[in-house]
Amino acid sequence: MTLSARAGSFVFVAAVFLSLLFFYTAYDKETKTLVPQKLLAVIFFSDAAKSWSELNKVAALAAIGLISCALVVGPLSKMFPKTFGKFLLYRKDAGIAGFLFAILHSAYSLFVIYGLDPNKMLFANPKWIGFVAAVLAFGIFFLMAITSTAEAVKKMGYIKWKLLQTTGYVALFFAIVHFLVLEIKPGKGLDVRPYGLVFLALAITALIVRLGFRALKTPPRTAFEEHIGQTPEKDS
Ligand code: HEM
Repeated sequence: MTLSARAGSFVFVAAVFLSLLFFYTAYDKETKTLVPQKLLAVIFFSDAAKSWSELNKVAALAAIGLISCALVVGPLSKMFPKTFGKFLLYRKDAGIAGFLFAILHSAYSLFVIYGLDPNKMLFANPKWIGFVAAVLAFGIFFLMAITSTAEAVKKMGYIKWKLLQTTGYVALFFAIVHFLVLEIKPGKGLDVRPYGLVFLALAITALIVRLGFRALKTPPRTAFEEHIGQTPEKDS
């Protein structure tokens, strides 16, 4: 991967993260406006517990947003190669960055919110389906992340590897279920700030695009490099 592609990926990931701080963290639910003081309070840890809780939500949204982008760029680049083909170069970095945010969010949620207590997580948790969906999503994203190298493709064989990558959409479905189950509150409905809803919409759109894409008969990719916008090496 070239230095400029790496820099492009970095700028994209940073833009997603910063946009969440500006448009999600700074949003005031009561006045329905952006309040810079709210953002400053979070980044300067005026109330440490509140800041960690907010940053945990930002990490969760960055995870689902970046992973959705990494997944959807595949079918989009086949449907509209001229427009989206160039973004294939950034998909691996975006997916890995999304997974790193998912690790941070999952670790904070498991240790701090649930205190690793099986009752809080499952047995006495009215939202246990949301918890199970999160664990399944995380497990699949983990397998995808550790096999995102050319060496892994060689070891597994391309067909098996591609099948695993396709399960990314199943994991995205579980992540959406997790998001909805945890954020739908009795008497309030889906209690998410507008910019958070943009990320939910992005994930749902990625799934719809993938389902729509199945209906199109496009020639399948045949090598790992094609998935990340590079020319496959030919055996001599
Ligand atoms: C074992 C793994 C996971 C656990 C224990 C977990 C736990 C949680 C908890 C407790 C919340 C509610 C947070 C709060 O209201 O303060 C939450 C929200 C959320 N989680 Fe997870 N999660 C896990 C994995 C994931 C994964 C893999 C993704 C996506 C890639 C994800 C995406 C989200 C999103 C988008 C929200 C909503 C954030 C918001 O409030 O706007 N989670 N999760």
